[in-house]
Amino acid sequence: MVLNSALLYHQFEVAGKSVLELGAGLGLPGLTSVLLGAKLSLITEYPDEAIVKMLEQNRRANLNEEEQTRCRVMGHAWGEPVDALIEVNGGNQFDLVFVADCIWMVEQHELLLQTCLRTLNRDGGRIVLTCFPHTGKLNVERFFCLLTDAGMVYEPFKAKIPVEGISFTDSDGEPVSLGRNILDLVQCYVIKFKE
Ligand SMILES: C[S@@+](CC[C@H](N)C(=O)[O-])C[C@H]1O[C@@H](n2cnc3c(N)ncnc32)[C@H](O)[C@@H]1O
Repeated sequence: MVLNSALLYHQFEVAGKSVLELGAGLGLPGLTSVLLGAKLSLITEYPDEAIVKMLEQNRRANLNEEEQTRCRVMGHAWGEPVDALIEVNGGNQFDLVFVADCIWMVEQHELLLQTCLRTLNRDGGRIVLTCFPHTGKLNVERFFCLLTDAGMVYEPFKAKIPVEGISFTDSDGEPVSLGRNILDLVQCYVIKFKE
């Protein structure tokens, strides 16, 4: 939601760009990218049939026909070959890779990083990564050590979020409110290859 809010405030321009979302959950930033004019948004999740089906339903329920042509859903387990992902983007790496709340699984760090390194465009590509305090300071540091060793650099940024926080209804139709006090705790980073 915080990454999505940063997109809605145009902290990262997605119009005309190719976007890859990893470990997408519901795929919110990937879907928003389409609405903001992304050339292609590829939303990926662990290749479990039920998860991918749910994401596909989300894609159809939230995008019109034209928008759906710019959005794809695929299963991808981190560290697995990325040929199919690159092929969807016309044989090119992606301009933006979104990683929201995925680095708390420390045993997955190397695999997640492999996918990032293989899919990010070396010429100007950016990873936008967010993590909640439950990730743990040491886990965050570990992931950033790995990516620095792999030739990447990172910078924290403050995501813009609405003053009143974010409200929505859950799948049972119940209202949920996330206040700024919670959302402000989310750490946000932009990552790129060292020039
Ligand atoms: C905490 S959720 C974050 C979901 C979403 N990005 C968000 O911010 O709400 C982490 C996601 O990573 C996915 N995941 C976990 N291990 C994975 C793996 N090895 N390969 C691909 N996805 C994985 C899970 O299915 C889960 O949806």
